[in-house]
Amino acid sequence: MQIALFGATGGTGRQVLAQALEQGHTLTALARDPTTLDPRDGLTTIGGDVLDPKAVATCVEGAEAVICVLGSRGRQAPIESPGTARILAAMQEAGVRRLVVVSSLGVGDSRAQIAWPFRLVMDLMLKSILEAKVQQEQLVKASGLDWVIVRPGGLTDGPRTGAYRFGVDPTLKSGRIARADVADFVLRQLTDDTFLHQTPAVT
Ligand SMILES: NC(=O)c1ccc[n+]([C@@H]2O[C@H](COP(=O)([O-])OP(=O)(O)OC[C@H]3O[C@@H](n4cnc5c(N)ncnc54)[C@H](OP(=O)(O)O)[C@@H]3O)[C@@H](O)[C@H]2O)c1
Repeated sequence: MQIALFGATGGTGRQVLAQALEQGHTLTALARDPTTLDPRDGLTTIGGDVLDPKAVATCVEGAEAVICVLGSRGRQAPIESPGTARILAAMQEAGVRRLVVVSSLGVGDSRAQIAWPFRLVMDLMLKSILEAKVQQEQLVKASGLDWVIVRPGGLTDGPRTGAYRFGVDPTLKSGRIARADVADFVLRQLTDDTFLHQTPAVT
């Protein structure tokens, strides 16, 4: 499958990239600094910001599916909502329907699935990012596309285990999960319709 990837230089994005290539997919990745991605067979990189509609359109062109693993880094204004708006517009324009987006447990109706100390941290320290993720999910849900919103628990850099829990059961509580396992689940959503138009947790 030809995949357009946003957030390829991030922790989870690098795992998505590596596993997708292993699985025989080809990717076009948009990156602000594409030199941080090693050249690989099956990978095309495009230098640019996700806020640049032209760069996003170039990345999405010819794709059969889009994966969005954008995250807000450092002191930048939250990117999730404005970045996703550009991606959705490009997908609509290009007629690409399949979208897998990584959000977070604790967003929207999953608030009760995270422990109260983390709820407090989110409310006090990550308020603007949380709001951007709520808006991001709303935009995706209203897009009319074939979307899956993946909500991971706390991310680690551990190895891929395949031993994670997932699903839409609201009693599923947040725990840690390796970025490599999130990538594994994300890639499954490209062809599996079990969670189409849903917001599964992975933890
Ligand atoms: N940390 C946790 O425990 C946790 C828990 C649940 C969910 N999440 C969410 O899971 C997702 C993945 O997390 P992560 O830690 O793997 O991500 P990350 O390492 O922070 O990577 C974020 C990615 O977004 C890209 N990006 C940011 N602004 C951009 C822009 N304007 N244009 C183009 N690209 C841009 C970054 O590119 P650059 O390399 O150019 O900066 C990077 O590739 C995030 O949405 C995060 O909020 C995190």
